[in-house]
Amino acid sequence: PGSSGSSRRSPVVGLTASARAGLAETMRSTPENWRAADDYLADTLVGHDPALEATLSAQRAAGLPDIEVAPVSGKLLNLLVRISGARRVLEIGTLGGYSTIWMARAVGEHGRVVTVEAEADNAAIARTSIDAAGVGDRVDIRIGRAADVLPTLVGGFDLVFIDADKESNTVYLDWAARLGHPGTVVVLDNIGREGEIARADSTDPMVIGTRDALRMLGEDPRFDATALQTVGLKGWDGVAIALVV
Ligand code: DHB
Ligand code: MG
Repeated sequence: PGSSGSSRRSPVVGLTASARAGLAETMRSTPENWRAADDYLADTLVGHDPALEATLSAQRAAGLPDIEVAPVSGKLLNLLVRISGARRVLEIGTLGGYSTIWMARAVGEHGRVVTVEAEADNAAIARTSIDAAGVGDRVDIRIGRAADVLPTLVGGFDLVFIDADKESNTVYLDWAARLGHPGTVVVLDNIGREGEIARADSTDPMVIGTRDALRMLGEDPRFDATALQTVGLKGWDGVAIALVV
């Protein structure tokens, strides 16, 4: 639209040589371009969100690591909660509360998110941000190591998001199945790890923990699962999605 000539002409063919070179540069698969495309998708589909941006500012000001999910992935979690109709959500790994807020918005007024955080300082930052986002009454933060906290929880969770220490992923998957029910959605973050998951000889405990979790999702009859690699703001990574059957 708005260009001269035939509408059937390829837009790339219609460019000058230097514009074509610039486009080729833009379209190279590099971490910078993954980020640019992710920014574009977030601008287009997620938009400006003052409560979530304040959550990230508070997290950074407190010196917490920048390892929260990307905006497009936070929105994915929000949509998965709504698509599945989940009312009771369990999150393992609160950090600064960014993904917690995305999911708390999705469970509805009478829904609940129980989120487990090992670090009391992180939990305090998260509490402030979650309350400021207006969903504090839906979110129950449990402080302690998840392996200790999970056995104390009452089950019945409809969706479980696992995003904590990767070494314990199989323990968390086991609890997700025990605290869920047939139909529970399980989302496991960081299954890509820059392709390291394909290395059977890796000695990185995070890679080993992730590979063990993926093997469990493939073999444990309680789950039916798949996984998707992603590139974007967070580099090359991915997410596994499972159904408790
Ligand atoms: C790490 C953890 C995460 O949950 C994540 O999304 C990215 C990185 C990490 O511990 O390095
Ligand atoms: Mg993560």
